[in-house]
Amino acid sequence: MTQSQIGLAGLAVMGQNLALNIAEKGFPISVWNRSPAKVDATVARAEEEGKGDYPLQGFHDVAEFVQSIKKPRCVIMLIKAGKPVDATIEVLSAHLEEGDMIIDGGNEWFPNTERRAAAAKERGIEYIGMGVSGGEEGARHGPSMMPGGPREAWDRVAPIFEKVAAQTDSGPCVTYIGPGGAGNYVKMIHNGIEYGDMQLISEAYELLKTLGGLGNEELQAVFEEWNGGELESFLIEITAQIFARKDDQGAGGHVVDHILDKTGMKGTGRWTIQEAAGKSVPVGTIAAALDGRFLSGVKEERIAASKILKGPEETVEVDRAELIKDVANALYASKICSYAQGMNLLRAASGTYDWNLDLGSISRIWKGGCIIRAAFLDRIKQAYDRDANLANLLVDPEFAAELNARQASWRRVVQLAVRAGIAVPGISASLAYFDSYRQARLPANLVQAQRDLFGAHTYQRVDREGVFHTDWVE
Ligand code: 6PG
Repeated sequence: MTQSQIGLAGLAVMGQNLALNIAEKGFPISVWNRSPAKVDATVARAEEEGKGDYPLQGFHDVAEFVQSIKKPRCVIMLIKAGKPVDATIEVLSAHLEEGDMIIDGGNEWFPNTERRAAAAKERGIEYIGMGVSGGEEGARHGPSMMPGGPREAWDRVAPIFEKVAAQTDSGPCVTYIGPGGAGNYVKMIHNGIEYGDMQLISEAYELLKTLGGLGNEELQAVFEEWNGGELESFLIEITAQIFARKDDQGAGGHVVDHILDKTGMKGTGRWTIQEAAGKSVPVGTIAAALDGRFLSGVKEERIAASKILKGPEETVEVDRAELIKDVANALYASKICSYAQGMNLLRAASGTYDWNLDLGSISRIWKGGCIIRAAFLDRIKQAYDRDANLANLLVDPEFAAELNARQASWRRVVQLAVRAGIAVPGISASLAYFDSYRQARLPANLVQAQRDLFGAHTYQRVDREGVFHTDWVE
């Protein structure tokens, strides 16, 4: 057997599919998993899909696995974040040698990557934290990948991942992100934006369904149409597919109507909000999406509350065609705000941690492969190409013109929702973000006065330099 160019540890859904993708691209790969059954399943799949041509070898023994990889070795782990990663590093490190490299391809909390990188460095091992997005399909046929860590180490393996990544008209969906935990951080923001997109789409669904009275077939048609225009994206596309799917459990109708309205979560969206609060970056749309998941979680309480609390009595009449157009505009404008928030948090982190993040190339590698892939990411990339120091996507001339042109629709949608008692936290948080950000003056002067009155916290004035305190109670 020839020595493999790369090793992959962890053969759950993502690992198995990424291994097959790497093998399909012609890179000899060794695979290993704690439970041998997964190794055998991967080898069998490689045999079947590659008709014997995929250069993939499976190992039950970790020492043999490591020895089968060409030096200096590179092992990519696709393991559940947290303790299992530490355990796998321990097992692998016993057999790795100085100069070898470990890549963690999981959704890891970035300080964990930095801690592990420091420990690995003491053993002479390079460590890279790489966000991988795209789910099962992406892993198999081309994900978007966000690697962070030592640059020279990454450069050694970049050619493999450039072939394995999703390909777009502006290149493969992978680029070196920055040192330390920068790769995991960018993936975390990707997921925060993913939460925002999903919340906004679910609000659009609720409006069209409840106010517009659209059935699943009609919703499917609307989402398909949207996917042919400026909203074109993976999430809009799969939403159309979801509306088409009939139930096969004997309940009749469509699957979507039989799914319990409680959203699950693994936590990356929560980290985004924690980070945003720590860095004083406003990310209201993403926060609304997280709150939306929390509120969905208290199903029993909501059932009880629905019997006590009343909505508005008014019946809101709408013109369906107008509503569909307005919701599309509101969704698009809200999406711009949500991405602007995510990008601003990236910029803040880049400054704090000295990562020198390139927001244009990050937008570029999100154009394909990942969950938030969308036609509009090319426009974001162009906005940062025009001005790398853009203060906010909202003030890029093209996006500003689009927001201004859509605001009448956006306001109509929020008004209708409020009148009808339909919660649109993501769409309204986005509009509030837009309305706050475009104000030269906010009512924060009053908050400052209150702080000064009860706590002598002082304030600055608009008409002269300095710090002031007033004796408020005469
Ligand atoms: C991706 C996704 C993925 C994430 C799931 C579930 O980019 O492929 O972001 O990494 O784990 O979307 O996330 P939640 O369970 O937190 O919704």
